[in-house]
Amino acid sequence: MIETFKAFQVNKQDDNFSAEVTSLTINDLPDAEVLIEVHYSSVNYKDGLASLPKSTIVKQYPFIPGIDLAGVVVDSKDERYKVGDEVIATSYEIGVTHYGGYSQYARIPSKWIVPLPEELSLKEAMFFGTAGFTAALSINRLENSGIMPDKGKVLVTGATGGVGSTAVAMLHKLGYQVVASTGKQSAEQFLKEIGASEVISREDVYEEKVKPLDKQLWSAAIDPVGGQMLASVLSKISYGGSVAVSGLTGGTSVPTAVFPFILRGVNLLGIDSVYCPMEERQAVWNRIAGDMKPNGFMEKMATEIKLDELPIALKTIFEGRAQGRMIVNLINS
Ligand SMILES: NC(=O)c1ccc[n+]([C@@H]2O[C@H](COP(=O)([O-])OP(=O)(O)OC[C@H]3O[C@@H](n4cnc5c(N)ncnc54)[C@H](OP(=O)(O)O)[C@@H]3O)[C@@H](O)[C@H]2O)c1
Repeated sequence: MIETFKAFQVNKQDDNFSAEVTSLTINDLPDAEVLIEVHYSSVNYKDGLASLPKSTIVKQYPFIPGIDLAGVVVDSKDERYKVGDEVIATSYEIGVTHYGGYSQYARIPSKWIVPLPEELSLKEAMFFGTAGFTAALSINRLENSGIMPDKGKVLVTGATGGVGSTAVAMLHKLGYQVVASTGKQSAEQFLKEIGASEVISREDVYEEKVKPLDKQLWSAAIDPVGGQMLASVLSKISYGGSVAVSGLTGGTSVPTAVFPFILRGVNLLGIDSVYCPMEERQAVWNRIAGDMKPNGFMEKMATEIKLDELPIALKTIFEGRAQGRMIVNLINS
């Protein structure tokens, strides 16, 4: 019988905001079919947003953030999941309106759960988490649009971030020549170690003015940055190429023209990990565990933290200073 367990909880009463590790009981968790002992979670940009005093993501307090979790089933009202099964739960309402992964136990609706692929450990699954899943989904969609390694170089923007760094490593594993764009001058060696063949600055992609059409430099791009960066990327994609856009760290408004689309047949692919259909979700997780799984990725790209280190980790990612992926260890917290 589980008496109490630890969770990282955000709370707001009037103007008083708190974010701290607290002790909860199972009865504090929302109702859902599957009770999971959470072994690992991870830190994503959205978790940084959810943990701000003026969060636009969290609507009700107290709340447990954490859009990712992986662990072992300890109770289940759905016969598809048995006690002892290893599972992944990311996306949907997890860490947004439904208590999330920064908790040693979580109750999750069974329709949001993915069985852990055999070739992945729980810790590896959370290394990838939503960021890695989004990178993999972006690559999958690029390939469905006809992109292949022999079509030319692929650009990754925001390359040191979660989506960016996992995209660099996965594309490299699949045989693509990867150009990594970053705002961090010090990250060149890191990006080359994880698979970039070329490292360029943000200004090399976008500086002040976006031309309607520019030199054709890349066959495709994975863009978690958005804003003017995306507009500039579109103007530099080769004829028939594709751009997979997933994020907005660089802004929400994209000052582009129709020319890349109507004169070069460029495809703009919208990537949504949250409501990605379950069939495609499982297929993408199987690719993450299979042909996309980079070599030596944990050693090169992962930092492991405990629950009480979350306030610093969440601030780091929100300020765009994170490099690689942060895994939260719930078992030893
Ligand atoms: N659509 C989806 O389903 C989905 C899923 C996951 C994430 N996302 C979104 O994707 C974005 C990235 O998420 P993440 O978890 O990878 O975040 P992250 O780890 O913070 O990475 C974002 C990276 O963007 C770059 N960046 C930050 N501020 C910038 C600015 N002002 N201008 C240009 N580049 C900037 C930085 O990389 P460099 O320093 O290397 O340039 C930063 O590391 C977020 O907007 C997130 O909400 C969307």
